[in-house]
Amino acid sequence: MTVNIENLRYAYDKKGNETLLDIPRWNIAKGEKVLLHGPSGGGKSTLLNLISGILRSSEGKLEVMGERLDKMNERERDRFRANNVGYVFQSFNLFPFLNAYENVDLSLYFSQDAKPKGSKQEIENLLSELNLSKSDCAKPIRKLSIGQQQRVAIARSLIKKPGLLIADEPTSSLDEENRNQFMSVLLDLINEQDTTLLFVSHDLSLRPHFNRAEALAGINQGKTN
Ligand SMILES: Nc1ncnc2c1ncn2[C@@H]1O[C@H](COP(=O)(O)OP(=O)(O)O)[C@@H](O)[C@H]1O
Ligand SMILES: [Mg+2]
Repeated sequence: MTVNIENLRYAYDKKGNETLLDIPRWNIAKGEKVLLHGPSGGGKSTLLNLISGILRSSEGKLEVMGERLDKMNERERDRFRANNVGYVFQSFNLFPFLNAYENVDLSLYFSQDAKPKGSKQEIENLLSELNLSKSDCAKPIRKLSIGQQQRVAIARSLIKKPGLLIADEPTSSLDEENRNQFMSVLLDLINEQDTTLLFVSHDLSLRPHFNRAEALAGINQGKTN
């Protein structure tokens, strides 16, 4: 089991009585590919931030890859995330003045595993597998096309071979061609590495790529607007 949730509750306003998330039970099996969808403001990003340990809930059980995130302090969660969770954002969050190698390498730098899971050679191999030429990889990110940038973002999120990849609406600013390309390179790598995927999108045309689609409202009993 990669994600195991029991009676998880979360509210930004601790004093108020509005619980944003109240999830009695939700699981993601190892290797599963799950599409999570729902209206904007419903709490999807909040749930992703809990599962990756950016936010912490003190109520309920949240187990990710066998570790109880709800029982960890911030430092332990940061370490857990650096070693086990890859993240792809809507805006990719790459460093615009660094090149592709440097952007991917930074992700390894933050991973504090005694035995790093990627080397310089692996970075080069991964980027070339994603069809990024050596000369493109040497350019600052801001000089790459959006399609190239998204491939760098995929490389950065997967270089550590994380057990879990979380993607928060990574395709929402892409045109159809870039979106199809994004999905195909992402899924090729995910399948190759046997990574569990939790992917948020409101684009239900992506459904065939996943084992399961879940509406947040179907698992969450908390207040949603
Ligand atoms: N850091 C924050 N502090 C307070 N409220 C927040 C914060 N982040 C999100 N929210 C609120 O929580 C709700 C859910 O937001 P979010 O998880 O981003 O939803 P979604 O990703 O489904 O659009 C929204 O009402 C949003 O305004
Ligand atoms: Mg969101």
